[in-house]
Amino acid sequence: MNKNYYITTPIYYPSAKPHMGHAYSSIIADFFARFKKIDGFNVYFLTGTDEHGLKIQRSAEKLNKDPKSFCDEISKTFEDLTKTLNLSNTDFIRTTEDRHKVSVQNLWNILEKNNQIFLSKYSGWYSVSDEAFYNEDEVEEKDGLKVAKSSGSAVEWVEEESFFFKLSEWEKPLLDFYEKNKNFILPESRRNEVISFVKSGLKDLSVSRKTFSWGVKVPSDENHVVYVWLDALTNYLSSLKYPDENNELYKSFWPADLHIIGKDILRFHAIYWPAFLLAAKIEPPKRVYGHGWILSGDEKMSKSKGNILDPLEIINIYGLDPLRYYLLKEVSFGNDGNISEEKLENCINSDLANNFGNLCQRVLSFAEKNCSSLIPDHKFTDDDLEILKPLNNLDKIRSFIDNQDINQYMSFIVDRLFSANKYFNDQEPWKKKDDRLRLNTIVYTALELIRKITILLYPVMPETSVKVLNVFNETENSIDFTSIDNNEILKKDLKINKLDILFKKIEK
Ligand code: ME8
Ligand code: MG
Repeated sequence: MNKNYYITTPIYYPSAKPHMGHAYSSIIADFFARFKKIDGFNVYFLTGTDEHGLKIQRSAEKLNKDPKSFCDEISKTFEDLTKTLNLSNTDFIRTTEDRHKVSVQNLWNILEKNNQIFLSKYSGWYSVSDEAFYNEDEVEEKDGLKVAKSSGSAVEWVEEESFFFKLSEWEKPLLDFYEKNKNFILPESRRNEVISFVKSGLKDLSVSRKTFSWGVKVPSDENHVVYVWLDALTNYLSSLKYPDENNELYKSFWPADLHIIGKDILRFHAIYWPAFLLAAKIEPPKRVYGHGWILSGDEKMSKSKGNILDPLEIINIYGLDPLRYYLLKEVSFGNDGNISEEKLENCINSDLANNFGNLCQRVLSFAEKNCSSLIPDHKFTDDDLEILKPLNNLDKIRSFIDNQDINQYMSFIVDRLFSANKYFNDQEPWKKKDDRLRLNTIVYTALELIRKITILLYPVMPETSVKVLNVFNETENSIDFTSIDNNEILKKDLKINKLDILFKKIEK
């Protein structure tokens, strides 16, 4: 069995500092990376910044800065955010690094050698904000301005000499590829969108620009820079030291298991990217998941709309783990979702303070008073085994992860928390003081429930979960998902360490 796992976020444009939408994609990817890690995988988790192209060049010009020092500054805020979000990323790539340029130029040379590139002239619409070419039928007029229908961003007319990639040749191979790899694009609704777009016919794609210079030079013609999307997508290879295909990283981790992206950039990842790779005879990634948008009101939160919520401010007020929990549980994965302080506060009170926090506090304080803070002995009854049983189903939980079904994963956890609290209530251990073994067994079962559920919460709230697992002398590096299959991990007479209050209820 292949125990390597490669997961990526988009590489973000450092045209302005990060907002909640960027935090969202990164937290989602970190969730999968951490789950795979505790399930025994070698995980390679990549994120970074996408620094070339007209969008960045113009943003820098506006501030009278040269693009490189402009990128250095803002890319740093994205790199800092990986720390603030407690991401477990293996690498942070910047497309202005030499290791990346080498990789882009190599891919270009192969495409050229494989007769996939030709010189012609582009005339059509271009959105600098999306860094995308649009057909006539993809633009509309709004308030006297030409905009892209899909994103609403302004387009400008471009006419210039350009190298083209023979995308039209890849229509049939792409459709075959989607057919053979049914889950290459998820969720399914987006898969269908992509397939019907491809079926409607693909035109050759302009893959170089000549009227500005902020990019990777086309090796065979230095008057052109490589189209920023061909440049950017290659980051997923360059981090693995491509073009050196014999190095351990590349051999272990390519093809990528999962590209986490927003639905705004699905076309680039689900059409252009596999087409470039097939044309270069490189195996395409295994899956692209296009998640929904974090909305502000009912509009997409975005730099260009200026309606952003700063993750740093939210984290300063509420802490990181509640934010991670909220984004994973309250935003239905695959769909658009909202975040507001009020919703976040409700979630903290109901799920974190009342459900998870309450379970931990009451069981642990009962164990402290009645079992001298030592793991008690136990003799399970059918009731106890029944309540533990759903947490023995490793394959079911793994399938949530492998289908990217975060919604089911989270509702599974919430159900387990409810039923653990209910178990402790119904069993009334405080009334069992004259049946020591029964009292001990109830406490033991409740502690095992806490241990198991907390392991499942680790990918969601790493810091909080490690605190709880420390109660049982477990450390971050020893967390093992498969141990939830075992109902008797906790050893009699082992010390139960103290736990501070995890979440304070927010008074309203
Ligand atoms: O597109 N809700 O970079 P970008 C959810 N550089 N996710 C959001 C979001 C929102 N409101 N806003 C942004 C680019 N995102 C390219 C990518 S990859 C080879 C190159 C997330 O800075 C989401 O993942 O515009 C989206 O796809 C990505 O940030 C776009 O970030
Ligand atoms: Mg964008």
